[in-house]
Amino acid sequence: MSQRVAILISGGGSNMLSLCDDMQGDHPARPVLVLSNNPAAGGLAKAAARGIPVATLDHRPFGKDRLAFDTAMTEIIERAAPDVICLAGFMRIFTPEFTARWSGKMLNIHPSLLPKYKGLDTHARAIEAGDKEAGCSVHEVTAELDGGPILGQARVPILPDDTPETLAARILPLEHRLYPAALRRFLQGDRSRVDLT
Ligand code: GRF
Repeated sequence: MSQRVAILISGGGSNMLSLCDDMQGDHPARPVLVLSNNPAAGGLAKAAARGIPVATLDHRPFGKDRLAFDTAMTEIIERAAPDVICLAGFMRIFTPEFTARWSGKMLNIHPSLLPKYKGLDTHARAIEAGDKEAGCSVHEVTAELDGGPILGQARVPILPDDTPETLAARILPLEHRLYPAALRRFLQGDRSRVDLT
């Protein structure tokens, strides 16, 4: 019986696609839901074209009531009964209630070498700081933003003429390799870190 994976997106979903494309054949899991807070997310059509159930829950009508939005998200997610939730370019900050409900079952990919540069504008901050390298991290999601146990990292050198855009473009393909590898280990109960260079 395959394990069930729900994927949350807000945009193009390139990481979602790499996860879905990996979950085939002898992979222990299958995608059972792609859910977005953004009805215009480009990833929704790509998931639907692959026959994956999709859903949207526009966060805007909920205004500042984050708990109401997260509660409605949980109701949609529970109907898919996932064993694991993968955040993939999902741009909402969760309430502690939501992270507690899915504690131990939720992963995220973040475009920095955590614990450095939690939050936004990660590549610009690494360049600004004069760092020699940058990268991405897969981690378990906890109540602390971008703060959970790290399951994998991939790193690249920062080149003298790098911009945030050129750096992001060099790291994104590594994200597409790192996230599927980290998910495979996580599903098998292996918490050893995946390290790509
Ligand atoms: C990626 O840089 C990822 O690290 C971050 O969101 C960006 C877009 O991801 N979480 P995707 O192309 O929508 O998967």
